[in-house]
Parts: sequence; structure tokens; C-alpha cells
Amino acid sequence: MIFETHAHYDDDAFDEDREELLASMIENGVGRIVNACASIDGLSDTIVLMDRYPFIYGAIGVHPDDADKITRETLDEIRRLSRHEKAVAIGEIGLDYYWHKEKEEHRIQQDMFRAQMDIAREEKLPFMVHSRDAAEDTLKIVREYVTEGMYGGIIHCFSYGKEIAREYLNMGLHLGIGGVVTFKNARKLKEVVEYAPLSQLVLETDCPYLAPEPNRGKRNSSLNLPYVAQAIAEIKGISAEEVIAVTEDNAKKLLLQNRLPFNPDIV
Ligand code: NI
Repeated sequence: MIFETHAHYDDDAFDEDREELLASMIENGVGRIVNACASIDGLSDTIVLMDRYPFIYGAIGVHPDDADKITRETLDEIRRLSRHEKAVAIGEIGLDYYWHKEKEEHRIQQDMFRAQMDIAREEKLPFMVHSRDAAEDTLKIVREYVTEGMYGGIIHCFSYGKEIAREYLNMGLHLGIGGVVTFKNARKLKEVVEYAPLSQLVLETDCPYLAPEPNRGKRNSSLNLPYVAQAIAEIKGISAEEVIAVTEDNAKKLLLQNRLPFNPDIV
């Protein structure tokens, strides 16, 4: 079954039909979903989803867009919530220089990225990174942490080229691949997918954003992931079933194995 590693079902875009949509996941082949916190408000909304749906897990953290709003209390809250039995990663955390151009903003984002990487290490959880127009600084911080020992991680919505991909893959990290891989102009990402071993890829939507072809521009949901699997399959010359099975296995090993050792379905 499809393992969706990065969704935002707490987003307002799902207010009209969230329950109905989530109820249809299993019958449509989506077996597990990680809801990634984005904003500070998203922390409690993600916990509500984790508690309500057996197949929803959580990535706990605050997005770089909200870095300037993070306080000591917020970090304490992230740490506390990361001990929830269905918290499987610290995320989404990282750097976004596309929307934030000021040097001072970059400094705050870096500090908060590091503070949350510290929590990931101390709580023995993988990290889930958002990085946009900040290739060099993200790589520097991730490398610094991985060198000193981390519990794996996903570079979500990977958007850089093969050279940067190689650095992360050599560190044993995973790349999150979503709707962009189906876009005609996504030459760079297609090259990355061709280059990366399937054992280091995971499927994700980032929904409600980034719907794949043929639904590009519409609200996205995990139900579109077969299109992403198909695109990866075509690049790699294998079947979509194999892509789904291997990426599910990758995500289980990375996100579930350490945290939920008593579920026989996991290993
Ligand atoms: Ni996201």
C-alpha cells in the first residue's frame, strides 16, 4: 500500500470534506499518512488527526516561515508532542530563502532549524527538511548534524539538482518525491529520480499543494499518489507496483521501525 510521507490534512483546504476524504484512503490503496506540522497552530491540529485516525502519523515541528514566532515554550511543546507514540519525525523544519530574503530572517531560521534538529537527535527521531533557495546553508547544517549522529531523515519535496542529491544520498538520507516529478518541465527532478537508488526515495504529496499531472493546479490529496508512482516507474523502467512496495518499505523502516516495535505488520 502507498505510504504518504508528507501531507497537510489540517489545512483549511480540507475543511469541507476532510472526514469523507480520509475515510476513502485505505480503500484507494493509501495505507499510511504522515501529517506534517507547518505552522505553530498546526502542532495541535496534527495531534487531533493522529489521535482520530489509526493510519495517520505525525511529523512534529515548525516550518521556517514561522521561525520568527518560535519561542522557548514552542520548542518545549515540540519536544513534548514528539513523545506521542505516533510522532514519527521532527518536521517540517529547515530554511526558506525564497519567501524570506533578509539576512536577519536567515539567521533566525538557521537557529530554529538547529534547535529542532537538536530535538530530533535527543528524541531519537528522523528529521523532515524543507529547503527552498537555500541549498548551501541547508546542506551545511544537515551535514553538521548527520556527522555527529542522527536517526535518518527525509529531504522533503526535493528541488535541487543531482550534485546536491548525491550529497544527501551519501549521508544515507531519503528524498521525498511528489507531484513535481510528473510536470513536463521538471527535467532536473527527473534526473535526480533516475540517479537516486529506489531504496532512498519516499512518496509524498505536500497536499493541498503540488498536485501531479493530470490534476496539476487542483487541490492535491494522497489519492493522486499513483500518478507520482507511475512517473517514477517510467523513469526507472520498473512497474508502479514495485515503486509503491519499495517506497512503502523504505518509509516503514525509516519512520516506524524504531518507534513502534510491537506492531508485527511493520517489519
Ligand atoms: Ni509541506
